[in-house]
Amino acid sequence: MAPRDAAEGATRWWKRTTVYQIYPRSFADQNGDGVGDLRGVIGKLDYLAWLGVETLWLSPFWESPQADFGYDVSDHYAIAPEYGTFDDFRALVRAAHARGMKIVFDMVLNHTSERHPWFLDARASRDAPRRDFYIWRDGKKPHGKAPPNNWRSMLGGSGWHWDEASGQWYFASFLGFQPDLNYRNPKVKAAMLDVVRFWLREGVDGLRLDIFNAIFKDPSFGDNPFSWRPAPTEDDPHGYFQRHVHTIDHPDTIAFARELRRVVDEFRDPERFLVGEVFGDARTLRRYCGEAADGLHLVFLFQTLRTRLSGPAVRALVEELEREFPEPFSPTYVFGNHDRPRFIHRVDESPEKAKLLATLQLTVRGVPFIYYGEEIGMENHSIPLHEGLDPIAARFGWVPSFLVPAFRARGILLNRDECRAPMQWDGSRHAGFCPETARPWLPVHPRARGTNVGAQRDDPRSLLRCYRALLALRRELA
Ligand code: GLC
Ligand code: CA
Repeated sequence: MAPRDAAEGATRWWKRTTVYQIYPRSFADQNGDGVGDLRGVIGKLDYLAWLGVETLWLSPFWESPQADFGYDVSDHYAIAPEYGTFDDFRALVRAAHARGMKIVFDMVLNHTSERHPWFLDARASRDAPRRDFYIWRDGKKPHGKAPPNNWRSMLGGSGWHWDEASGQWYFASFLGFQPDLNYRNPKVKAAMLDVVRFWLREGVDGLRLDIFNAIFKDPSFGDNPFSWRPAPTEDDPHGYFQRHVHTIDHPDTIAFARELRRVVDEFRDPERFLVGEVFGDARTLRRYCGEAADGLHLVFLFQTLRTRLSGPAVRALVEELEREFPEPFSPTYVFGNHDRPRFIHRVDESPEKAKLLATLQLTVRGVPFIYYGEEIGMENHSIPLHEGLDPIAARFGWVPSFLVPAFRARGILLNRDECRAPMQWDGSRHAGFCPETARPWLPVHPRARGTNVGAQRDDPRSLLRCYRALLALRRELA
């Protein structure tokens, strides 16, 4: 066994840390093609150090057709050219570490892109060498033209997709172009654990695990039982009129959390951490951390995204998370991410109320996750569904526009472009995200002229300065 690190006994660094999520495409464009890149992030490290965050989680930047902007990986070992090169990645890790900061990767274990060489091979024929890397089944008899069972994707609708050429169905927990890997095939598990080890060896300090709750499916392939729940919510992932017992939170997935932990624990000095994207109530999610705290280090507790922001409701939330995640566990406090409406709207766009919420997030026991731009109060960019680049927008294109705000109010973005607008650095034409002559991949928010880093940096009463003061306090006292 590897020697335990010296910090044993003292509070582990990943419990004291603050995480800042960067959506690389939208953070800073260094080469002027309108798309954020790794060199852009490097250029902003001094800002992030000034702000006082420690851990940077970057959404995926691997080789990908970008149909889901990187959450559809086609090569886990190569960096997408629009984001940079392998040298840029190494330079980023070096530059972050030199400032005492950490880098967390977004690991999409559950699925690949349909353009990943494994899937191209798998779909070539029924006896292709990598066929069994994915989940294939015959359709229902007599003709096989109906899906094998009633399993739904996380977005509603059947999770099964028909492959005409081989006459079978494959399963996808998310969108059809993101086929789920078959973790019951030991080769798949080994290959993906190799990916994990590869990046940890490169010096990555932690991994955020994309839709981790979906990794294992039940080998019985039985129907999911009926339920009256129309739609999933933050504290209950079941919905679309079924309980997803065979596809979500499978006991084998919980066991896999511990297996993954053992892999990550092979790396010490510093210790690395895992944070799982899982959905449900706090008690259920604690299971991913292991009875003996030997599973995932952290899980997102998305109920923080929706709690009513009244004194009693917030108090009840903190009490619940304290109860369910006592030491040695640690809760997480998340108010936004690249899938969700920006939190400033929950506090009536009031910077003063946002300061209160930041005070809670940065002083309560737990790990805070700050989504880029929250520190200046960035707002959703209202972009019509039909203009959305997000594949979810196309999926829900049928929803009439007058209903969109109702979804948004319930914490659901049908067009996730709205929360992915370019970071607002200054009051110039493209908010300093890219050169004025370039065309940003998503339009800059019209209010960027007033709401930006430059405008708030020297104003001691600004939201930005409040975040900075709180982060300094946290570093001092945590
Ligand atoms: C996660 C990501 C989301 C992505 C999906 C499929 O929920 O946060 O952005 O589209 O998984 O990978
Ligand atoms: Ca660029």
